[in-house]
Amino acid sequence: MKLNKATLLALATASSAYASPAKKEPRCRFALDWTTEEIIADPDRFAWDMLYWEGHFHQDKIAYNAENGMTLDGRYIDFVTGEPITEKPFSASSKEALQIMLYTQAVAGNPEAARFLSPTKPKQAPKIATDIMQKKLETYLKFNETFPGFGGFLPWMTTLANDVTPTQDWHDRVPGLDNGQLVWAVYGFIHALEKSGKKSDRKLAQGWQEWLDYTKTTADKIFYDSDGKVCAVTAMKSEQLSPSDPNQEYKCETETYLNDPYEGELMTYFLQLFSSLSDDDKQAMWEYKKWQLISDEYDQGGVGPITVERGFWFSAHELWKVLQLPYYDSDIMRRVSHNAERVRTCNGVVTKAPGLYASINNYTDPATNEVGNYISPAGIPSIANNTDQYHVVATPYGTWPIMLFDRGVGLAWWHNMVSGKKMQNKFGSTEGFKIDGTGVSSMVTWDSKILTVVSLLGGSKDIVRDGMKKEGIYDDFLAQVNRDYSRTFPVLKGEDVELCLPQNSVPDKGLEDYTSCTA
Ligand SMILES: *[C@@H]1O[C@H](CO)[C@@H](O)[C@H](O)[C@H]1NC(C)=O
Ligand SMILES: *[C@@H]1O[C@H](CO)[C@@H](O)[C@H](O)[C@H]1NC(C)=O
Ligand SMILES: *[C@@H]1O[C@H](CO)[C@@H](O)[C@H](O)[C@H]1NC(C)=O
Repeated sequence: MKLNKATLLALATASSAYASPAKKEPRCRFALDWTTEEIIADPDRFAWDMLYWEGHFHQDKIAYNAENGMTLDGRYIDFVTGEPITEKPFSASSKEALQIMLYTQAVAGNPEAARFLSPTKPKQAPKIATDIMQKKLETYLKFNETFPGFGGFLPWMTTLANDVTPTQDWHDRVPGLDNGQLVWAVYGFIHALEKSGKKSDRKLAQGWQEWLDYTKTTADKIFYDSDGKVCAVTAMKSEQLSPSDPNQEYKCETETYLNDPYEGELMTYFLQLFSSLSDDDKQAMWEYKKWQLISDEYDQGGVGPITVERGFWFSAHELWKVLQLPYYDSDIMRRVSHNAERVRTCNGVVTKAPGLYASINNYTDPATNEVGNYISPAGIPSIANNTDQYHVVATPYGTWPIMLFDRGVGLAWWHNMVSGKKMQNKFGSTEGFKIDGTGVSSMVTWDSKILTVVSLLGGSKDIVRDGMKKEGIYDDFLAQVNRDYSRTFPVLKGEDVELCLPQNSVPDKGLEDYTSCTA
């Protein structure tokens, strides 16, 4: 029998698999208490369990530093016990963006954000968020004072020490992509605070607004080169000189520009909507990058043809922008994106994989407890610009974009992956696993865990939409998205294909679960 959503739903309803009464909190290894059928029949209840455990990541010195409010990239965990070991004492604007989006939903009163942040006292969730954001603001302002050259933006930085400094390799240089993510996250947070109507929230909103307004004045100086080019990484003369100092200089570090139609576009929109660049420069930015948005077709293993936007690697990471700006308000953009998830899920079945590929850390060598390097080239080669890929490690966060179209199917894939040995630990899901079942990446990070949580909460795009409408910049944004996507996608094939459910489990090759999170 072909497994699809309709048949599963019928099965689950017929056997009324889980007419169980309200139960106590889920156990650490709760994934093993669920089947795909049950998840499809009640995705929200599965999400409730998932959020409870992913929320265990949100702890001082694991996910963030309570003293300065800043994210930590994550934490290594012991291969046998799952207990936290070496710290990851650094972070970047991209992790900051995830944290801020999460808090945006908490302030907006989203019960699932509260479940994550404060399951026993959900009413306290907004205050937990605003207290940390107050500390963070102070840290950002202090960083701006100490390192004025960054113009309010952030490099990769050490965040475990209370005074944040650029990491060794990020002195005098700043990345554009991550900072595009950061500014839009802050934008959403401010609008959530303004809506809450509380006096203390308004004050915090004002503080963040001043920070954001400052970055609007420095963004083009720092990131815009000329002829429509936006720097991927900007090198500055000195991080001690403010952008307005006549001796300060900025230039693109290399001839690598942020001209991608993926995450990097968040900075393009920031410059478009808020900088004082001329209309000609703004137009030039879109002209310079437009050829990168390419229509491609997936047709493999009896699935297809399905029209998709060609990926860089077709890693889930690339789609990040849709969490932050209301791209899906564009009918054509949303339909193209929906096709991407048809392909992502069905390609998993076609390739008989127990999970989904996306850029992620390599697996741990159990002898040394060391995780290998980050593996960027992982996605779907047949519809990617870069076809030379490494398909040995899969990761639960490969599911996040699916959730925006079908929560049940997305969670079913997530569940399929975390059901593998060692894929749950006392901080929720584990980073990734070898698809042959012989290893895992023994760590927990914002990227591999919280990107999925933020997607489940809907990102901050809806709150950002309200803000954009209020400011009168929404129509410009939507017109640009419509222009880009309708030009590139005059016809779409494959919109009738159903999302596919996982069909292969992670092989059991004798790995043992973490001793601190057993079945
Ligand atoms: C950042 O520092 C500059 C001085 O270099 C100052 O003019 C600016 O007001 C500061 N920004 C904020 C948000 O405090
Ligand atoms: C695709 O790869 C080519 C060659 O490496 C590169 O020049 C081009 O910029 C890439 N395009 C995209 C959309 O990444
Ligand atoms: C992942 O780690 C394994 C084992 O150390 C190594 O052989 C492999 O080359 C690594 N893969 C990548 C893409 O770095």
